[in-house]
Amino acid sequence: MELSVNTQAVAYLASAILFILALKGLTHPATARRGNFYGIIGMVIAVTATLFGHEVQAYGLIAAGVAIGAVIGVILAMRIQMTAMPQLVAALHSFVGMAAVLVAIGTFFITGHPGAVMMGELSAGIIIGAITCTGSVIAFGKLQGLLSGAPVKFAGQHLLNALLGIATLGLGVYFAMTGSVWALAIMTLLAFVIGVTLIIPIGGADMPVVISMLNSYSGWAAAATGFTLHNNLLIIVGALVGFSGAILSYIMCKAMNRSIINVVFGGFGSGDETGDPSAGALAASRGVKSSSVEDAVYWMEDANKVIIIPGYGMAVAQAQHSCKELMELLEARGVEVKFAIHPVAGRMPGHMNVLLAEADIPYDRVLEMDEINPEFPGCDVALVVGANDVVNPAAKEDKTSPIYGMPILEAGKARQVFFLKRSMRPGYSGVDNLLFYKENTSLVFGDAKDTIEGMANALKGSAH
Ligand code: TAP
Repeated sequence: MELSVNTQAVAYLASAILFILALKGLTHPATARRGNFYGIIGMVIAVTATLFGHEVQAYGLIAAGVAIGAVIGVILAMRIQMTAMPQLVAALHSFVGMAAVLVAIGTFFITGHPGAVMMGELSAGIIIGAITCTGSVIAFGKLQGLLSGAPVKFAGQHLLNALLGIATLGLGVYFAMTGSVWALAIMTLLAFVIGVTLIIPIGGADMPVVISMLNSYSGWAAAATGFTLHNNLLIIVGALVGFSGAILSYIMCKAMNRSIINVVFGGFGSGDETGDPSAGALAASRGVKSSSVEDAVYWMEDANKVIIIPGYGMAVAQAQHSCKELMELLEARGVEVKFAIHPVAGRMPGHMNVLLAEADIPYDRVLEMDEINPEFPGCDVALVVGANDVVNPAAKEDKTSPIYGMPILEAGKARQVFFLKRSMRPGYSGVDNLLFYKENTSLVFGDAKDTIEGMANALKGSAH
């Protein structure tokens, strides 16, 4: 069966609309499942309409590719941990980049010199695709711990990048005008090198912003491929991905009070989050109070309102299910429990929302920063579960701090603050937390999951 051009165009239009609805759905946890579903249907329609289009000449290789890809995809999706999601996304972006490069080179060799405009599109596709590909591989390596997360910096780095960029663009123009295979080869090679030199100076902890940026690039690479293949849907989808990735990078930078330039050139955050690990003694020597699980439970069971602030450590400890149990036990005692979400808590956008949703914590208990901040002064206990930077008052009080200006969750305004963490180590920014030293703050040392389970057991064991 072969679809007519018109039927295929209508199918493409339907899937473009479904992709837009998918993005809209993904803007809120309550509608995210529906959004995902629209995306799946859109993709099924798009793939089917393409497979039955007039362009397809043989199905054998396509079927083999789909079968191998599907097996790898299913295994990966089932095995991957939530905390490893950013590197999976990075790995997938490298494929999009590579596909754009291969399609453009293949098109050139099949069509010869297909006119200046198309040759320009090919150049753009190859350059963006190659940068996306190797940049994503480096991002993957840093996040997976295969490469050091520390920024790799050397003298003249920016100059080198600028020269590489100018040379690649020059070769791109020359290739578009002449169709020189040499220009094509050197341009492709240089673009692959730029992907590496652009990403190695960025610290592992800044990788989520970089991944979102590369996501945007992969969208533009796909759009360029769409122009090459005269495929309108690929152009639309590429533009959607390109813009949404760019907007997401902007939102993340804004929530961290950084500029994208500062992320790309700043070399901020080592990514390995090491520091002085000796917990209790170090805390005491610095005048920081530590408490037992029982102390914290004693405060919480008598509280009217407890606000739980999850952070990266909750993801590491996988403590979301224990948080839900704690919430239910406290609610059974008439304590009001809410969760406060900072826009950049964790290591990827929506990280905390996804984990809390996985634990079936009702959406009405989960509040965004602007909604919850006015509630801290009326709250008895702020329970900080593996969060750190997102509650650090240095962002407001210390003009010299690297995080100065970043909006924070105002946990310090609660009557009592308990931090659940394993040591005195700082969070991602490497900045000491001023909240540790406040009169109403205490640290409960230990793995967040163990500590919360201990709290739940203590609540179960104690009488009303
Ligand atoms: P962080 O400031 O990174 O603090 C996480 C804390 O969790 C650490 O202090 C760590 O202390 C603790 N921890 C780690 N494993 C733990 C475990 N098993 N049990 C208990 N505690 C554990 O996290 P945050 O407050 O969520 O802030 C996020 C940071 O990441 C921000 O600075 C943000 O700008 C940055 N960032 C976020 C994103 C996105 S999109 N979310 C993207 C890029 C960067 P111990 O080691 O002492 O346990």
